[in-house]
Formats: sequence, structure tokens, C-alpha cells
Amino acid sequence: MILGFEDSRQLAKRIAQYSRLPYNEIKINRFPDGESLITIPEEVKGRNVWIVRTLFDPNQKLVELLFAAHTCKEFKAKKVNLIAPYLCYMRQDKRFNKGEVVSSKIIARLFDEYFDGMITIDPHFHRIKKMSDLFKLRGKTLTANALVADYIKKNIKNPVIIGPDSESFQWVNSIAKKVGCRSTVMKKVRYSSRRIENKFVENIDINGKSIVIADDIISTGKTMLGAIKCVKKIGVKVRGFYCIGVHGVLIENAYKKLRLAHAEVITTNTISNQTSKIDVSKLISNSLW
Ligand code: R5P
Repeated sequence: MILGFEDSRQLAKRIAQYSRLPYNEIKINRFPDGESLITIPEEVKGRNVWIVRTLFDPNQKLVELLFAAHTCKEFKAKKVNLIAPYLCYMRQDKRFNKGEVVSSKIIARLFDEYFDGMITIDPHFHRIKKMSDLFKLRGKTLTANALVADYIKKNIKNPVIIGPDSESFQWVNSIAKKVGCRSTVMKKVRYSSRRIENKFVENIDINGKSIVIADDIISTGKTMLGAIKCVKKIGVKVRGFYCIGVHGVLIENAYKKLRLAHAEVITTNTISNQTSKIDVSKLISNSLW
């Protein structure tokens, strides 16, 4: 059975359709003091349950998700698995400054406790290489690279793929290989959580090309804007700018800012919004166990 929340209904229903599984919904009542009352369909009894919830803006969602998972077990679900197309808190994977928490490890311990398995898409694993380095549950990490490459092949002429920082290499390199075009990865210098600067580290001919900047997450859009600025500095004529992110978090008017910089913004529907032009539901349903 696929279980969705109201905020994950669209994607959860599509996954259910593709995988020919029944769909049911977890109900949430929010009290005026901010607490949530969660109601689970009792049909979970004896079933292998997949709860779908994408975890941007995660704090309240996390508590509700754990309440739901616990109650599914109480109602004798056979297995309780999580589909978190966007997995939260993975960027804080080390103590960057004295006293900080290492959020990714705490999330892993919580999920190990409450879920039997988890599927996610392009998580921001940087210092860890694979899910089992962090989680003990049965996990599957999917990538949207092939879907992104297909989108580029169908919709963007004469592309060059640019990664805005060294961490984006894993996506950029694989997408460029699938598209069959050139790619390069910039260096990103982060002066603060809000001030960054991107620099080219190698010479690459971008004259007349469609500039496709690819990354896992577009959050405030600063990283993308930094990369666009860096390309514009070179002063050659390009066909256009395309910012492709797997996860469109798009906070603080990121979409508007990128449009003002004359960029087209394309993301998958791991987070559903106006830029979700690439559908991941089939990819997910093909990987359920
Ligand atoms: C971080 O390293 C990620 O890969 C993204 O580059 C980052 O999250 C994008 O954030 P923003 O849009 O706020 O610059």
C-alpha cells in the first residue's frame, strides 16, 4: 500500500498508479497550538506500507512522519518503508563549526528506528559515499540523471553542462556523458551561508552554446546565480541559460531571481512546484521491493 500525506498526494498517487498498489492517505489535524493529530487508515494491517513524504521544510513534517510510522507498526503493518524523494538534513554531514550538531547522523538514527527501508533520490551525500555508510535500514538511492539527460536531449539545443561547484561533479559528469556533450565544473567559494562566488577552473568553449547549469538542489538560487554571473563575465554570446536542479526547494524568491537573470528553471517533481517538468514517479515505482 502507498500512503500519502496531503502535501505528497500528487506524487504518491502517481507512484501507486504506476506500481498498481492501493493508495490511502494519512490525515492531519493541526491544533491552534501547533501540535498535529495524525490518523492512519487501519487497512495497513498485514501490508507492506510505503509512506511517501518529501522532506523540504522538514521540522514539522518529520514529527508527523515518525508518528505515522510508529502507528503503522502498532496497527500491525508488515513492513513500514519511507519514500522521501527529497531527503532533508543531509548537507550538515560534519561539524563545520565548534558546537554544531551533525544533523545527517541524527536523522539516520531516527529513520533506522522507525522504518524498515527507505528510497530517496539524489540525496546530498558528500562526505559519505552511499546510504549504508550512514543508515542501517534497507535503503535504495535513485538518481534522476537519466531523466534529466533525456529532458536536455529533447528540449535544449547545443548544450554544455556546467556544475556550479565541485560537489556537483557526480551529477554533471554523468548527465553530460548521457547527453553526449561537454561539461565543466566550477569552483564555489562560500564566504557565508548567503555570500558565494563561482569561478571557472578550466578553459571551455561556451560560445553559442546553451548553458545548462546542473545541481542537486536549487534552494535560494544563489549558487545558480553565481554560476550565471561567472559565465556572463566571460562576455561571449550564448544561446540561453537553463538551471536544472533535481530538487527545487526554491525559497526566498529564487525562481523570480533566476527568471530575472533570463534563466529557464527546470526541476523534477521530488518537490512539486511550477518548475517541476521532470517526473520521477515511474523511476520510484520501478524500484519498490
Ligand atoms: C550544496 O552544496 C548543494 O549542492 C547546492 O549547491 C546548494 O544547496 C544550493 O543552494 P542555494 O540555491 O541556496 O545556493
